[in-house]
Amino acid sequence: MSNARRGTTWRLWAWGGLAGGALLSVLWLLWLLGSAPGGVPEPQPMVTILIWHWPFTDQPPELLGDTCTRYGMSRCRLSTDRSLLASADAVVFHHRELETRRVRLPLAQRPRGQPWIWASMESPSNTHGLARLRGIFNWVLSYRRDSDIFVPYGRLEPRSGPAPPVPVKSRMAVWVVSNFQRRQQRARVYRQLAPHLQVDVFGRASGRPLCADCLLPTVAPYRFYLSLENSQHRDYITEKFWRNALAAGAVPVVLGPPRATYEAFVPPHAFVHVDDFGSARELAAFLNGMNESRYRGFFAWRDSLRVRLLEDWQERFCAICARYPYLPRGQVYEDLEGWFQA
Ligand SMILES: *[C@@H]1O[C@H](CO)[C@@H](O)[C@H](O)[C@H]1NC(C)=O
Repeated sequence: MSNARRGTTWRLWAWGGLAGGALLSVLWLLWLLGSAPGGVPEPQPMVTILIWHWPFTDQPPELLGDTCTRYGMSRCRLSTDRSLLASADAVVFHHRELETRRVRLPLAQRPRGQPWIWASMESPSNTHGLARLRGIFNWVLSYRRDSDIFVPYGRLEPRSGPAPPVPVKSRMAVWVVSNFQRRQQRARVYRQLAPHLQVDVFGRASGRPLCADCLLPTVAPYRFYLSLENSQHRDYITEKFWRNALAAGAVPVVLGPPRATYEAFVPPHAFVHVDDFGSARELAAFLNGMNESRYRGFFAWRDSLRVRLLEDWQERFCAICARYPYLPRGQVYEDLEGWFQA
């Protein structure tokens, strides 16, 4: 090795030593600041949310470690391990299993002051047995905007890339219905509309069921999708709107809460509301007579926005952690039924 080369090596070592020393000093300073009162805040403690029973299944997904990091929330752990009842920061109970009495509330083992959360994505028409749940729950997780933990079925968020093209349209209107009941308002709307508008019907109730992955490609060639909710309730807007219509690339014709509620979620020209028309005949005339430029206008929002579906229970439960620091301590739903039916 030449002298020149050795000299370079030494200088590298010397600079390395200096840099290392500087780094150590900085770390030491940070440590001092961190331990001093009013310095760098402590990291947030881990929040543990116990899911007493996974919704609609006895086979919960595998939940490992920091479960909510994939949804942008760290220090949040979901667990279905009931031995954590004594120590969990909050416990979630999904309503369906309480309603059917598959699951019982561990009232006798409830630690004093432990927040309990009532969770449901069903409408009041399909929710029973709330009267016996008085004075138990502290927080509600649901699609209602005034829930403590508000979890809509979907939302629009900013789009970064270019909008995907609107699917090529060759058909008029489509309705997918699995549970048809004549007395429902949506059945009445369909009956009144059908004589004036070409509506194709799919789903179990029509004898033309669709497989889970078939729905979107089936809907895409239709200009309009009938997003008729099974019952009409405050804020009750489901995947019939977000997924079956908006995400599939069809214009939703909605029956549900008032237009103003939809407009809280999407631009006014993203959908057609049944209430905007005096009769089914007028609605049909509007849909049938729509020219191409007007129709294209219903997709304008896609230039800057995209649909984000929120269908995963894990993501819904992780939303608890985002809200956790702000949730009202000491609140109790004395009349959960009264609140939910309102
Ligand atoms: C399309 O319909 C809209 C609204 O009915 C109307 O204002 C517009 O002039 C029509 N455009 C064409 C090209 O006919």
